[in-house]
Amino acid sequence: MFTGTVLVVDDEKNIRRTLRMVIEGEGATVHEAETGERALELLEAAIAANEADPMLASELPNVVIMDVMLGGISGLEVLERLSALGEDGHPPVPVIMISGHASVADAVRATRLGAFDFFEKPLSRDRVVVSVRNALRQSKAERELRDLRQRVHGEIIGTAEPMRELMRMVAKVGRTKARVLITGESGTGKELVARAIHEASDRHDHAFVKVNCAAIPRELIESELFGHERGAFTGAVGQKKGLFEVAHKGTLFLDEIGDMDLDAQAKVLRVLQSGELTRVGGHTPIQVDVRVLAATHRNLQEMAGAGEFREDLFFRLAVVPIRMPPLRERLDDVPLLVRHFINQACEENGLARREIDPQGLAALARHDWPGNVRELRNVIERMVVLSDGDLDIDDVPPELRADAPASDDARGGESDELATGDARFAELLRGQSELPLKAFREAVERAYILQRLRDNDWNVSRTAEVLGIERTHLHRKLKILGIQRGER
Ligand SMILES: Nc1ncnc2c1ncn2[C@@H]1O[C@H](COP(=O)(O)OP(=O)(O)OP(=O)(O)O)[C@@H](O)[C@H]1O
Ligand SMILES: [Mg+2]
Repeated sequence: MFTGTVLVVDDEKNIRRTLRMVIEGEGATVHEAETGERALELLEAAIAANEADPMLASELPNVVIMDVMLGGISGLEVLERLSALGEDGHPPVPVIMISGHASVADAVRATRLGAFDFFEKPLSRDRVVVSVRNALRQSKAERELRDLRQRVHGEIIGTAEPMRELMRMVAKVGRTKARVLITGESGTGKELVARAIHEASDRHDHAFVKVNCAAIPRELIESELFGHERGAFTGAVGQKKGLFEVAHKGTLFLDEIGDMDLDAQAKVLRVLQSGELTRVGGHTPIQVDVRVLAATHRNLQEMAGAGEFREDLFFRLAVVPIRMPPLRERLDDVPLLVRHFINQACEENGLARREIDPQGLAALARHDWPGNVRELRNVIERMVVLSDGDLDIDDVPPELRADAPASDDARGGESDELATGDARFAELLRGQSELPLKAFREAVERAYILQRLRDNDWNVSRTAEVLGIERTHLHRKLKILGIQRGER
């Protein structure tokens, strides 16, 4: 059983009816279009509505299942138009293509155009159900991510599972007044998340006040946080509001809370318990409505065990604990972050957009980034500033290139290519992209054959021998898989 909306596009009434029966039988909702023109009309309107107001996303079907041969424009043309509408040359919804008399050329073209799946009539019930189920799953995962992006204001880059989990959390706690303790290594984005939580809350029209507890001298922290009355101490010439008061109705972010000394901790605890404070040298309690977020790269629980941090304050702060994953636990996100920071650096420096080649990207995705996202951002900025145009492996700082097992200089450029091929396998095998088994098999097969062809200087006979298949068989495979001579 599954849920979602499927648009069936076929000029044959019988096929539409069969598909409707099968898909509705599994619980999804079905819409129909008789022609490609009509399908495009429906989809374009839904996409436009969706862009205008993401809440209308429900109008956009989750999956399209479409015949190649239609009365007017062909299914492949519709697919092409849809791919042009998508963000990265892929259609904005998964499209399953079906064909009465599938030609290899059609199948290849459909795959190139980003079809989710392709199969032939007569339709097998199981084949349809499995394919639609997979497509619905992909569609929902993508939509959830887009939706989270909207809610957490798009700034947090990352699609790896730990980041999705993080964004779900931010969206969820944003709505509440719960105190959140954000922990994680330096440069993982703790401050970014604190700001995102504030932005996602109904306090976002009020102040977000950040206090760096490590940077304020211990004798000043109290007056910084709670303010002081005139003459409270030498130098207190006037009355001053503390940061708790400044953050009234908004959010106070206590950064590096692990560096706050025990005296100040006791006073913060009191404010959290009572919701009111007294300025230094003052007597009248002042009510404050503040949501407190805290962050640290230290282990507060351990510190509490050692008597360096108040355990009661720890429990008050860590109502919702959020742990930021180090970048090395989500290396899959490196390419995304790299592109983001390249664009950012280009914009900031008034440069035209630049690209990075796969080898450069692969090298960056192999480093273990002890300084996390901040280190990556700095490296990219430096690469952009120092290079004259598009970036490649030579722009990657040598100390990072040293991480790459295959880019050993003694083995020359060839080994770099190998590394790229291997990286592609690894990527496929890790199962990052949710592919139907058939598409996965083809992708792996394609990457493997391509690699062997390169090893053998595109000599088909020799490659066929290595692969243990007939030369004619290999030729056929190249056609089916759309491999072109000299392709990299
Ligand atoms: N997921 C992310 N997407 C985009 N940018 C990020 C992400 N994570 C971190 N950054 C960027 O990396 C830099 C470091 O992030 P941030 O200051 O939030 O880290 P931090 O965890 O507070 O580090 P520290 O403990 O050293 O203070 C910032 O410029 C931030 O914008
Ligand atoms: Mg920080």
